[in-house]
Amino acid sequence: MTKSTMLMLPGDGIGPEVIREVRRIIDWLTRRRNFELEISVDLVGGCAIDKHGVPLTDETMARAMEVDAVLLGAVGGPKWDSLPFAIKPERGLLRLRKEMGLFANLRPALCYDSLVDASTLKPEIVRGLDIMIVRELTGGVYFGEPRGITTLPDGQRQGLNTQVYTTEEIRRIARVAFELARTRSNRLTSTEKANVMESGLLWREEVQWVHDNEYPDVNLSHMYADNAAMQLVRAPKQFDVIVSDNLFGDILSDEASMLTGSLGMLPSASIGAKGANGKRKAMYEPIHGSAPDIAGQGIANPIAAILSFAMALRYTFDRAADAELVEKSIVNVLDSGLRTGDIMQTGKARVSTGVMGDAIVRELDKLGG
Ligand code: IPM
Ligand code: MG
Repeated sequence: MTKSTMLMLPGDGIGPEVIREVRRIIDWLTRRRNFELEISVDLVGGCAIDKHGVPLTDETMARAMEVDAVLLGAVGGPKWDSLPFAIKPERGLLRLRKEMGLFANLRPALCYDSLVDASTLKPEIVRGLDIMIVRELTGGVYFGEPRGITTLPDGQRQGLNTQVYTTEEIRRIARVAFELARTRSNRLTSTEKANVMESGLLWREEVQWVHDNEYPDVNLSHMYADNAAMQLVRAPKQFDVIVSDNLFGDILSDEASMLTGSLGMLPSASIGAKGANGKRKAMYEPIHGSAPDIAGQGIANPIAAILSFAMALRYTFDRAADAELVEKSIVNVLDSGLRTGDIMQTGKARVSTGVMGDAIVRELDKLGG
């Protein structure tokens, strides 16, 4: 059997700190569960700019195309904020998504029982919450042309971006969402602004088409994205799977994360089309950013990164049992009262990134025998 391969791109800010804890989980799985993973580590984002002048080198991009999965920490920080657009740290991430063809971004938002009170929403609103946001990731206004800042004849400057979607781009992301809905409670909410945008109208019509022709058994509803944003804080448990375009998905998933208590808890998987070998390209990353305000202090929450790796175990490495083991360990550690600062509650024990990692490994020892 050939070894599984993974490219680790810890990136900037708290990225390296949280990825370090993932390494320890992988070491444990290698030791105790015979998981052979060949890992290479490289730069992305600001650290790549500092070393190479670009946020992602062609060599790193090529490596990303070869491996079974990429695990990314976070990119960006104030140091690189004023750089020209084309070489900002974020471009490294966007290039990976685009060139790997990772059109489907899965962002589960799960509210753990022991964190119900960490949410800014009332406990009864979020208790038991389990939703999945499926965000289109390689199209829309993030990549649409024309784009740019130009100077008009009258001397004013004009910023321009283009929201654009084609039939196939919409249908393929809709299929991912319908498939997921079938494995859950069979309900899908599609969001757009069909009331003001032609691209939104097309989105609605194409999602409906996929439903009528391929997934008539799934319960589909359409909702304007602004209403969905409101409903997410009013009554989030009405949702199961939500599908949305790139920009609305970016916003709705940040919003959904706060229902669960902290951005520091949410993983994501970005998945491409099936390749010739029958495998999908994939990149896993926590939803949180580089958090420059707390970087280097060893206090970041490693759970989103560890859960992202658990998604890799499930979706790329076919190791669902190991994914469950990791997830269960996290639940138990949270139940035992350990908290990083972002999910701190009175009466609980505030711990560092490393101590949280220790506790999860120790829990794995207990559960994994
Ligand atoms: C995300 C982030 C990225 C995005 C940034 C860092 C480019 O906010 O993954 O949600 O806007 O997609
Ligand atoms: Mg975002």
